Amino acid sequence: LNVAKNNDRTPLTESDVRTAVEALVDPVLEMSLGKAGFVQAISVDDAEVQVQLELPSPVWRPRNELKSRIHEALESKIGERSLKVVFASRVLPSRPEAAAGENLIPGAKNVVLFASGKGGVGKSTVAVNVAAALADAGAKVGLLDADIYGPSIPTMFGAKLRPEVVDNRLIPVTRYGIKLMSIGFIVNPEEAMVWRGPMLTGALMQFMRDVEWGELDYIILDLPPGTGDVQLTLAQNIKVSGAVLVSTPQDVALMDVVRGKTMFDKVGIPILGVVENMASFTCGSCGTVHHIFAEGGARKLAEKLRLPVLAEVPLEVSARESADSGRPEVLSHPDSASSLAFKKVAEAIGTELGKTAHRAAAAPKSSGLKIIQ
Ligand SMILES: Nc1ncnc2c1ncn2[C@@H]1O[C@H](COP(=O)(O)OP(=O)(O)OP(=O)(O)O)[C@@H](O)[C@H]1O
Ligand SMILES: [Mg+2]
Repeated sequence: LNVAKNNDRTPLTESDVRTAVEALVDPVLEMSLGKAGFVQAISVDDAEVQVQLELPSPVWRPRNELKSRIHEALESKIGERSLKVVFASRVLPSRPEAAAGENLIPGAKNVVLFASGKGGVGKSTVAVNVAAALADAGAKVGLLDADIYGPSIPTMFGAKLRPEVVDNRLIPVTRYGIKLMSIGFIVNPEEAMVWRGPMLTGALMQFMRDVEWGELDYIILDLPPGTGDVQLTLAQNIKVSGAVLVSTPQDVALMDVVRGKTMFDKVGIPILGVVENMASFTCGSCGTVHHIFAEGGARKLAEKLRLPVLAEVPLEVSARESADSGRPEVLSHPDSASSLAFKKVAEAIGTELGKTAHRAAAAPKSSGLKIIQ
């Protein structure tokens, strides 16, 4: 049987492909890929069509959707050729004015805080896994343990790490591609416990100013619980891109979300959303889902405060074990339910900040001196 095939002699130029791809719309920016500047290299030969997109974050949420839209748009044009869609990313600063002098971490394009009013709700666990998910996706990531009294980063990455000092600057410890700094790498926790407020904020300032962070796409700050000095010091000395509020579903923890929001509003730090941690527990033997700390509370509250819920993270034994073993859950069990939720948080952050950065970069510079012709 001799079926006429739409074979590899189908004429197709790079500009045909470019035109088709550039016309597609990115669902987050609600803008054509052409206008968004996403379309990079395109190549066409007899065997293969390759499209390379440059996204505002390696965890840009609609990346898979974009891939399928490109496949659909080109399907009828490429004949027998195979199609390969390749992603690259270029993370931009969400607050470009942050390059200015008063910023203590000038090399960090985006600064994200993980906070909660109440202790023990999982800030450090979520922060560590989000940092690991971003780094694993290819971003340059730093993680600063801003919990001077009760640092957890050493335990969560392996305690015996020590930063080097070169030319009076601290070199962060690199683990799993993440640059880490914690007071726990330098003094033992009991020692830090007895520090008074000014010493604490002093140490934190040093961790921003005197650490050789280099260029970072994202720096994640794991905050101590509460709404005190540390939060204020940060707000005054760095341009924070956004804060993530972590809560468990009980009412007492949720009340602290309200307090956290009030505090961040007051100091002008945007809130990216709420993570509901320990949202549910699935029984390993019977599969029943238990809502140990009540159900859906964070969601209701977030709606009331008009904040998005970035993810609901289940209570999982492996998440706790990973935290204690020095290898983040998203790396040790990438497909566990909690890992998927952590990755969702990373994606929400990368996408939201990417959107803000893209808009900031596209906005006309307000020099106030526009020349009218
Ligand atoms: N989703 C989860 N599943 C299982 N265990 C968890 C989960 N989230 C956190 N944990 C465990 O709960 C404990 C408290 O978590 P974590 O240290 O991250 O909280 P925190 O809010 O940073 O606490 P602190 O206020 O003391 O800084 C840890 O032992 C951690 O391993
Ligand atoms: Mg903590």
